[in-house]
Amino acid sequence: VPLQSRNTFGVPARARLLAEVDDASTLSALLARDEFSGRSPLVLGGGSNLLFVDDPTRPLLVLTGRDVRVLADDGERATVRADAGVQWHGFVLDTLARGFAGLENLTLIPGTVGAAPIQNIGAYGVEVCEFVHAVEAFEPATGQTHRLGRADCRFAYRDSVFKQQPDRYIVTAVEFDLPRLHVPVLDYAGLGDELATMGIDRPTPRQVADAVIAIRRRKLPDPAMLGNAGSFFKNPIVPSAQADALLAEHPTLPAFGGGDTGHRKLSAGWLIDACGWKGHRDGDAGVAASHALVLVNHGSASGRQLFDLARRIADSVNLRFGVALEPEPRVIGEHW
Ligand code: EPU
Repeated sequence: VPLQSRNTFGVPARARLLAEVDDASTLSALLARDEFSGRSPLVLGGGSNLLFVDDPTRPLLVLTGRDVRVLADDGERATVRADAGVQWHGFVLDTLARGFAGLENLTLIPGTVGAAPIQNIGAYGVEVCEFVHAVEAFEPATGQTHRLGRADCRFAYRDSVFKQQPDRYIVTAVEFDLPRLHVPVLDYAGLGDELATMGIDRPTPRQVADAVIAIRRRKLPDPAMLGNAGSFFKNPIVPSAQADALLAEHPTLPAFGGGDTGHRKLSAGWLIDACGWKGHRDGDAGVAASHALVLVNHGSASGRQLFDLARRIADSVNLRFGVALEPEPRVIGEHW
């Protein structure tokens, strides 16, 4: 099965087997079949957060269920359940249209609802974990179906139990807890400015979404036009002492958080940009001209070429700043 059109980098790869499943309750029977021979499948969502450096050795699974349902609504908050196969951006717009707030900062993120909790997608000061009520998942090793509450998901920055224990769970649906009345989160640099430029003073959630859409369209290349997987590196979290030393030398380096955590998050985009990578190109593997954190495929780059470029970028950042970068997307067929 060709995978080039199933990953947003658009790199070539092939799977020996790819199963599409609409009804998650049939997973148990499917995975018991010989073709799966007891092996946990690699779950593919929108293919927007992975890089195929090599062909996957395991069978692939795509969940295609698209059901969205309001489970409860007391007029102030609602519980909304969506199947893993629902497209994330469409889901966000759907919840806003129904009058539910909370997800507006997370608009235009590629991928599916099922993928959202895995890496705890986040943007413009909001992480999806703040609105996750429960995650429904199937565990191939035991054949059990689970409903993990928010605490069970062990969410952190771009992290969760689903990432900490890869392939243990197959996320089949996510339940969200969404408020009708919600104080918008506008303190992320750029978002407030964008709304001010739009002449909006007290934005509705839908207007916040429109501002986020405008910023993302400007900064991030559209995977449909130029292959990419969003940020290729996580923003590194370093001990505060190291952050302070770097900031003393480089006062414009954006740093976030801190407080009593003893750690601060640095802007990987800034570090990479400072090493001169923005717009760089090795054949068809490149760095976006609009954002140093985004690797792009200008046409016929292979996953290996993109991976090698990522390695060189990380090495140069480490050499210059002493900060180790880690990929954000899942890398198939290679260890970082
Ligand atoms: N910057 C540069 N040069 C660049 C890019 C960025 O100097 O080429 C500096 C600028 O100072 C800029 C700052 O970095 O103000 C932050 O940039 P941006 O607002 O684009 O955010 P980011 O930290 O690079 C993170 C997420 C994005 C998310 C944005 C907005 C990660 C790994 N990435 O990027 O998420 O959209 O914040 O909230 O946390 C993704 O995960 O795929 C993704 C796109």
